[in-house]
Amino acid sequence: VPYYSPTSLFLLRLSLSHTGCCETDLWISSNKETTNLVKMGIYSLITGRRGPSGFGSASTAEEVTKGIDATHLTAIITGGTGGIGMETARVLTKRGAHVVIGARNMGAAENAKAEILRQNANARVTLLYLDLSSFKSIKAFVNDFHALHLPLNLLINNAGLMFCPYQLSDDGIELQFATNHIGHFLLTNLLLDTMKTTAKTSGVEGRILNISSIAHIYTYQEGIQFDSINDISCYSDKKSYGQSKLANILHANELSRQLQEEGVNITVNSVHPGLILTNLFQHTALLMRFLKFFSFYLWKNIPQGAATTCYVALHPSLKGVTGKYFADCNEVNPTKLARDDTLAQNLWDFSVKLTNSVSKKNYLGFEDAS
Ligand SMILES: NC(=O)c1ccc[n+]([C@@H]2O[C@H](COP(=O)([O-])OP(=O)(O)OC[C@H]3O[C@@H](n4cnc5c(N)ncnc54)[C@H](OP(=O)(O)O)[C@@H]3O)[C@@H](O)[C@H]2O)c1
Repeated sequence: VPYYSPTSLFLLRLSLSHTGCCETDLWISSNKETTNLVKMGIYSLITGRRGPSGFGSASTAEEVTKGIDATHLTAIITGGTGGIGMETARVLTKRGAHVVIGARNMGAAENAKAEILRQNANARVTLLYLDLSSFKSIKAFVNDFHALHLPLNLLINNAGLMFCPYQLSDDGIELQFATNHIGHFLLTNLLLDTMKTTAKTSGVEGRILNISSIAHIYTYQEGIQFDSINDISCYSDKKSYGQSKLANILHANELSRQLQEEGVNITVNSVHPGLILTNLFQHTALLMRFLKFFSFYLWKNIPQGAATTCYVALHPSLKGVTGKYFADCNEVNPTKLARDDTLAQNLWDFSVKLTNSVSKKNYLGFEDAS
């Protein structure tokens, strides 16, 4: 049993409470399951211990994909202009995959592409405009992608934003839920037929990854606030982020179940990348830098942060593995809410209704997302 010094637990509580994972005293003492999840995570981070996969928190994206040939694969990654997404794109192209980056900041996307090409002149990178907080933009992105006549083997739903003040998306949905969950839900549905066709004609397993977070443990009491998703009076920037990350896991689980039922050769999994000081922390940047100084052992660098995504996307040992949640390149159990099949089904129905009602209202002729 690992020993946690009072100082390390204090720092954990402090840093997690500011990353939105907890009002720590409340749940660290009250929720044994969550406590164990966090303890295992800390143990793995401090020791860098490798799990059953042979990889651990200190593994990098290059290390976990070493020797893998991805030249036959086409991948879409959302938010590949910086942070974990850009490193994921870089490593996938290094392994030979053709990577399509969906980005809303085309200047940053051009810079990311230039950097990837600077390191690997043969890298195949395509940039397409995508704003996940706008249904209109998601539809345009899918049309642009289809116009390229490419197959699609991998879809990495990575883009995200965290702890922003209350805002509504173009379509009138709370911004963190809209960007982190609903946008990816719609995007995935609109790309699914292409992925199914690719998997069928190529015989190669398709893979969908939702980049979630350990922050899924800190959400509203009922998990997802179906009745008050836009309610400003009970908005918490941290719980709303946790809610959207819980939705990422539930979405992956329900889609995985549906594809298994259909007998489709596509897996769907979710990932917690670790704690990595990226632009994601823009709304708490100064505080996080301060905390990182005292809790450096809880943090990963970007190559380590992209490792779990790259492992789940490419590693042959995960063939056929679906509906699972990964952290530090190993399968772990998310919280009870994240494993609740009824909640996952309810979220699916809610998301279909939301995408349909908004798209019918605002964009006549928009493809039915169901
Ligand atoms: N860093 C961590 O410690 C951590 C921990 C757990 C989970 N995660 C998850 O990992 C994923 C990647 O995070 P990161 O740390 O790499 O953050 P990041 O550096 O801020 O990257 C996020 C990416 O998402 C893009 N994005 C945000 N809103 C978008 C929108 N509406 N449409 C299209 N793209 C949008 C950003 O583009 P812009 O530059 O245009 O904003 C950026 O490219 C996120 O899903 C996050 O929740 C991160």
